[in-house]
Amino acid sequence: MTSMNSLYAQRRARVAAQLGSGGIAIIPTALERQRNRDSDFLYRHDSYFYYLTGFTEPNACLVITAEGRTTLFCQPKDAECEVWDGLRLGPAAAPAALGVDAAYAWPVLATHMPPMLENRSTVWYPFATHKGLESQVDGWLNSVRARVRYGALCPDQQRDVCAILDEMRLIKDAHELATMRRAAQISAGAHVRAMQRSAAMLRAGQEVREYHLDAELLHEFRQHGSQYPAYGSIVAAGANACVLHYRAEAGRIQNGDLVLIDAGCELDGYASDITRTFPANGRFTGPQRVLYDLVLASQDAAVAATRPGARFVEPHEATVKVLAQGLLDVGLLDKNKVGNAQDVIANRSYFPFYMHRTSHWLGMDVHDCGSYVEPSEVGTVQERKDPLSGETIKDRPSRVLQPGMVLTIEPGLYVRPAPGVPEEFHHIGIRIEDDAVITASGCELITRDVPVKADEIEALMRA
Ligand code: GLY
Ligand code: MN
Ligand code: MN
Repeated sequence: MTSMNSLYAQRRARVAAQLGSGGIAIIPTALERQRNRDSDFLYRHDSYFYYLTGFTEPNACLVITAEGRTTLFCQPKDAECEVWDGLRLGPAAAPAALGVDAAYAWPVLATHMPPMLENRSTVWYPFATHKGLESQVDGWLNSVRARVRYGALCPDQQRDVCAILDEMRLIKDAHELATMRRAAQISAGAHVRAMQRSAAMLRAGQEVREYHLDAELLHEFRQHGSQYPAYGSIVAAGANACVLHYRAEAGRIQNGDLVLIDAGCELDGYASDITRTFPANGRFTGPQRVLYDLVLASQDAAVAATRPGARFVEPHEATVKVLAQGLLDVGLLDKNKVGNAQDVIANRSYFPFYMHRTSHWLGMDVHDCGSYVEPSEVGTVQERKDPLSGETIKDRPSRVLQPGMVLTIEPGLYVRPAPGVPEEFHHIGIRIEDDAVITASGCELITRDVPVKADEIEALMRA
């Protein structure tokens, strides 16, 4: 067995050990999806399935029993299909190639599952993630039920296997961290390339569009073996940066604009997620620099708060503290109207300028799985009234950070024209996002191959 296969086998064994006596888990990969007429979207495997197999073909399903027996259903060999779509592993080769105990052709899943479920107590599968899976399981259980009068036992419990897998995926192992570091490095190089292209084109008097910089990102991703972007890249010029879910479109990038790029590649199943905001021509204006330095200071505070033993929410609180004071200092908030920084935080007066959270888990999925509540404290609930909406919010203790967790740190400021908002800041949108691995003593930022300090960005863009 290869070292990768033994890693997947260890993960499968850890799942088996948590299924309980008589348990069985069914974990399918993702479905293929039609894009239009006879074209499909580029296929992407299911992250849970990949985590347990490393197998990327579509039409596959893994079954694990509590006793540790693993069965794979996969596409059968088919000479004609393979001419069109490429080689398939096939069930005969799968046990040796992937280290599973048995493998069968995908089409026999429907007939093999009822006997595999017979005399089992609990069936585990991913809830609400695979369209049609619940009704498939219903059908298999109905087939088992039809045999109870002959003495068969039918599982009487269904449980969400994601509850097990989410916790496992939250702590990354050495192989995962190595892949994520490499993905982060590639993405950082792509941001550098986009910054330099922007300045070079403007210096040459060329018309620059958002898609020109998107092309640089894609080039760098693929050039270094990334399979695809980990999510839809954002390349937002000027006022477009204030639209949080803007994509890379055809907007003109003008001299004097800021450009916000939020883009990261996926490498061998793992995401990276970087945002940089830079002056299109390589020189920040005064007001741009004031807000940029404020966002960066808020990120520095968040980074300092990102360490083992801290709660997940602490980097966000550190960010908000710096932004609240900064918004008062630069005149985006008026202390005669909103009070001091503590009042700004308590009343969430910063919200029109900073309306998203500072972090999310990162892993195979860009917004990776894993509970944001500390599992041992889910029963501790504190109610509070949200100062903006008046709604009652139930707070549970935030997750305690541990070595091996990976999260983003991504503060921002987005200034839309509004009464009382100084004109010099209108339409400025800034986000700075890095990926942090929790270490034994703090955190490691794995995305810093692209500079983040304003002076360093300017120097890079002059080069
Ligand atoms: N790129 C997605 C995010 O930053 O959450
Ligand atoms: Mn992010
Ligand atoms: Mn992002």
